[in-house]
Amino acid sequence: MSVVIVVGAQWGDEGKGKVVDLFTERADTVVRYGGGANAGHTLVIDGQKLVTHLVPSGVCHPGKACVLGDGMVIDPHTLLEEISECQARGLLTRGELLIGLGAHVILPYHKLIDGLREDHGAKRGKAIGTTRRGIGPAYEMKAARKGVRMRDLLRPERLRAQVASNLDDLAPVITHLGGQVPSKAEVDKWIDDALVAGEKLRPHTGDAGRHVAKVIGEGKHVLFEGAQGCLLDLDHGTYPYVTSSSTIAAGACQSAGIGPTMIDSVVGITKAYATRVGEGPFPTELHGEEGDRLRNAGGEFGATTGRPRRCGWLDLPALRMGVRLSGMQSLALTKLDVLAGLPEVSVCDAYKLDGKELDEPPTDPAEPIYVRIPGWEKLPSNARSIDDLPAPARSYVQTISQMAGVPFCLVSVGPDRSETIRLTDPFA
Ligand code: IMP
Repeated sequence: MSVVIVVGAQWGDEGKGKVVDLFTERADTVVRYGGGANAGHTLVIDGQKLVTHLVPSGVCHPGKACVLGDGMVIDPHTLLEEISECQARGLLTRGELLIGLGAHVILPYHKLIDGLREDHGAKRGKAIGTTRRGIGPAYEMKAARKGVRMRDLLRPERLRAQVASNLDDLAPVITHLGGQVPSKAEVDKWIDDALVAGEKLRPHTGDAGRHVAKVIGEGKHVLFEGAQGCLLDLDHGTYPYVTSSSTIAAGACQSAGIGPTMIDSVVGITKAYATRVGEGPFPTELHGEEGDRLRNAGGEFGATTGRPRRCGWLDLPALRMGVRLSGMQSLALTKLDVLAGLPEVSVCDAYKLDGKELDEPPTDPAEPIYVRIPGWEKLPSNARSIDDLPAPARSYVQTISQMAGVPFCLVSVGPDRSETIRLTDPFA
């Protein structure tokens, strides 16, 4: 196996950062596909935190190539800040980063529209709860064939014309949403800043698709790092409470510009419980003290926006849907330690609607059916095998795997690299 996709099985924030970091030990190249700075990976290395939004989590391994695929929407200023932060730590100093010239660019007006829409929606009870990073508006312009791409940051005349045309289209929208149409001076500054950023990024840009296909052809190990999670997928997630990109495994091929026959394996990441940020259905959500306990124990606050995440029990029908959508062949279970100390742990095994039991979530509201499993005390942080876990935690892990129909390749029992039970190697 040399080409592996890692994808979030829930609503994002499954702890992909740590898992990708571990799998990167075996990879030569890590490719981020889809989304933009809406994602946030918190990596803990030797007790030190590094948060990345655009650069793949694989960055923590010096010398491994990091690719940003053409399907991404990139804020050039955020990317430059991240590159500097990485370089200050001795990472990305050897030209390891390749940014697809076809990736779309997020400019300040995308963020302006995103924020105005959210505020406007909130007043009418219709907000999506986006990260306000301009993701939706950038993908809209892309679909309308009016977007700005990375290659346009290297062509001043084209960039000026494209931005002027975008703002012509958007001015009435900004006014309708109660915003202030930016002045010419402001727009000129945005363009100048973008051109400066483009020049700084120029040495890192190139044909990402051909590069990825080439290294796969050479038999190198390539890891595709998904952002967000399957249930936020634009086509198959909990629409309209989704992001604007393809978050499922198929999105990796789409974004990178390679065919599905090049993929060897798909690993899904699931937390031992469920979280979601923003609006949208979350039938297993826990409110009050129970939700607060999970949030505080798991540090469930957004890495990108700092928003408290909504917390609840693991939703197996949703997990099964993720397994189906992405064709997951194995799962990595994260944050099992967070559930320690609870007298009992619940997991939703099915939904009940009109007297029928459903094994995947229906579109209409339905009643979750729970299986209850006895709780466990603190997990040994030096657990290296499933047999090192207390019996109830072991039973929880086995029950999830059985009910999801997929084996675990890894179980994480703490935030540090070392606090991991490795079961199988996805690259083996
Ligand atoms: P957007 O991607 O900023 O447009 O936000 C759309 C929805 O996706 C909102 O509910 C966000 O909270 C959610 N979302 C986007 N990125 C992430 C992520 O990386 N983790 C969790 N939720 C996300």
